[in-house]
Amino acid sequence: MAELVKTMKNEVAWDVQKIRADFPILRTEMHGKPLVFLDSAASSQKPQVVIDALSNYYATQHANVHRGVYELSAAATDKFEEARSTVQRFINAEHDHEVVFVRGTTEAINLVAHSFGRKYLQPGDEVMITAMEHHSNIVPWQLVCQMYGAKLVVIPINEAGEINLETVKELMNDRTKLISIVHISNALGTINPIRDIVDMAHQADIPVLADGAQATAHGKVDVRDLDVDFLAFSGHKMFGPTGIGILYGKEKWLEELPPYQGGGEMIRKVTFEETTYNELPFKFEAGTPNIAGSIGLKAAIDYLDNISVEGMQSHEEKLLESATTQLLEIPGVKIIGTAEEKASLVSFVVEGIHPYDIGTLLDHQGIAVRTGHHCAEPLMDIFGITGTIRASFALYNTLEEIDKLVAGVQKAVKMLS
Ligand SMILES: Cc1ncc(COP(=O)(O)O)c(C=O)c1O
Repeated sequence: MAELVKTMKNEVAWDVQKIRADFPILRTEMHGKPLVFLDSAASSQKPQVVIDALSNYYATQHANVHRGVYELSAAATDKFEEARSTVQRFINAEHDHEVVFVRGTTEAINLVAHSFGRKYLQPGDEVMITAMEHHSNIVPWQLVCQMYGAKLVVIPINEAGEINLETVKELMNDRTKLISIVHISNALGTINPIRDIVDMAHQADIPVLADGAQATAHGKVDVRDLDVDFLAFSGHKMFGPTGIGILYGKEKWLEELPPYQGGGEMIRKVTFEETTYNELPFKFEAGTPNIAGSIGLKAAIDYLDNISVEGMQSHEEKLLESATTQLLEIPGVKIIGTAEEKASLVSFVVEGIHPYDIGTLLDHQGIAVRTGHHCAEPLMDIFGITGTIRASFALYNTLEEIDKLVAGVQKAVKMLS
């Protein structure tokens, strides 16, 4: 596990090589070149401790949870509930029953949209999102707005990819029933002022959902500090397994909302005439959950607990600064998303060259980046482009990898111009 080293200037240094040693995939090669993995915003890589937690679980601990009277099932249940408490502590939720295990951010948002819509949305009501949302924070709301005759209101952004709080205030009215907003944009890197929006929304009794998919791998996300009513995030973007994610909801909201899916575990009593529902959080956890995923997510959180958030953030800031400065020196490069508050990713286009072509040439050099619309097609439309090349950084990337990216883009531009 990585340790921190205090430098002479008392700065927190980041031992990136020690961190890298924890991630076996970073020792692999692609097209005969060392893998340079710059697509962590799509899904991050996994440290050995997470891989071990998964395989140990299946090798020695697996049984279904909350069901068996036998020791193995009771132990699996303890592990599963221990994972829930770990998540509770990680996001500083008040109660562990405010933590609902789901498949990921997408399912968490769908859960809220459908349950909230069913109970609260009436014709003429409004749900507010921003212009920089991922499709998973657009389409679920479109679906429920269509179902209940409500309207989706979109907060515009400026050239840099930022929202204006005054505009949010102007758009809010007594028909606004919920605001669902991305914490960190996966396509631009913009960090939104969630707490300010929550303060404004709560003055008008409007609940706020934060899409935290991109936030939890890059710093502390404290639900009580942000005062969000709901938070959605995915394990696989924060060094945990795929197929596991979290919906956090304030107790008062989760108590109010009707169940999303029906099935085993979410019930208290079933008859053919009528069903009553289980207590929180089980009311929202129909069917056998992703037990292994929860245990893997706990291992990822334990891993993050052992590193310095300040060290990671200052390292990621250096990566962002180096990539931004060097890429802008390449003729024809334009960065999409230049918000003042920005996370460690660079989305860019090169004049006259399709992002896919650059991505393919980078791949041949072992450099993995994402190209396309990043599940944010309406956002691409606003910028008048079909897509970007996105290099997204995590705690394990190095400044040398940024240099390789820049050299790779230079080479690709030369070949394709
Ligand atoms: C901002 C944002 N929201 C939501 C999602 C959807 O996450 P998942 O596919 O894990 O459900 C993503 C994934 O890229 C994302 O970046």
